[in-house]
Amino acid sequence: MRGVILAGGLGSRLYPITEVTNKHLLPVYDRPMIFHPLDTLLRAGIKDILIVSSPEHAGAFLRLLKNGQQFDANFTFRVQNGNGGIAEALGLAEDFAHGDDITVILGDNIFEDDFSEAVKTFKSGATLFLKDTDEARRFGVAEIVDGKLVGIEEKPKEPKSTYAITGIYIFDSQVFNFIKRLEPSWRNELEITDVNNFYIEKNEAQAIFVEGRWTDAGTFESLYMAGIIARDRVLGQMETHIKERVIKGIKVTDEEHNRYPRFVPVKH
Ligand code: DAU
Repeated sequence: MRGVILAGGLGSRLYPITEVTNKHLLPVYDRPMIFHPLDTLLRAGIKDILIVSSPEHAGAFLRLLKNGQQFDANFTFRVQNGNGGIAEALGLAEDFAHGDDITVILGDNIFEDDFSEAVKTFKSGATLFLKDTDEARRFGVAEIVDGKLVGIEEKPKEPKSTYAITGIYIFDSQVFNFIKRLEPSWRNELEITDVNNFYIEKNEAQAIFVEGRWTDAGTFESLYMAGIIARDRVLGQMETHIKERVIKGIKVTDEEHNRYPRFVPVKH
């Protein structure tokens, strides 16, 4: 399974902070935003990863991520001209996918969940990941009849459920044929929701509910929430790490103390 991170677009809802930089380079707690979806793919066992970004900032992604060696992964880069939509950006991954299945994650989506089981057991079609939300109007929203996903509406004024389609998807190679059939939407973008609806019409989409917290980071409030989720994660990891150290009688290093003084208060 190969992975794709989509980090193009303008991030215009975050102006002025995205006026001179790409949204996915902004800090989300202790790391650049793109590290979080990258972590989600790596945790799912995916190591061959394509990063799609914008021409203005592609150099910054290269400088930050390099070839992937530091993550024990292998990175490829592509550039999307303009902001023609998530599906347009994904269309650039066709050569990279090489006929394989792909896991796609939006560069501004932060998850607590581990997707390795879903990746491992994926057979064909599309796997979509849903999450209950009180902000359904901001997302692609599932229509569910008798427990079955029958359609998705993008940013509906009157959502048919409270279940958002989150920004992680597993697709088989049909995805690129579907993308070629798309027409631009009212917001002049090729919509991932239309791609997902093709799979649903063919009865080839399965829905899984996300258990942990999830947020995008495309608005000021959700960017703030992303920071909280990331901070809680670090805090949890630090606690475990410190406890292990204490049990084993190993000293906390100066670097650990300097990076997270509040959570690593003891300098032995
Ligand atoms: O976060 C989940 C939601 O993401 C889904 O529920 C929606 O169905 C889906 O359309 C999308 O909604 P947004 O309108 O919030 O997506 P946004 O335009 O913010 O783009 C999300 C990411 O996709 C962005 O961080 C980078 C990437 N992207 C987006 C566009 C428009 C690209 O790489 N190229 C693009 O042209």
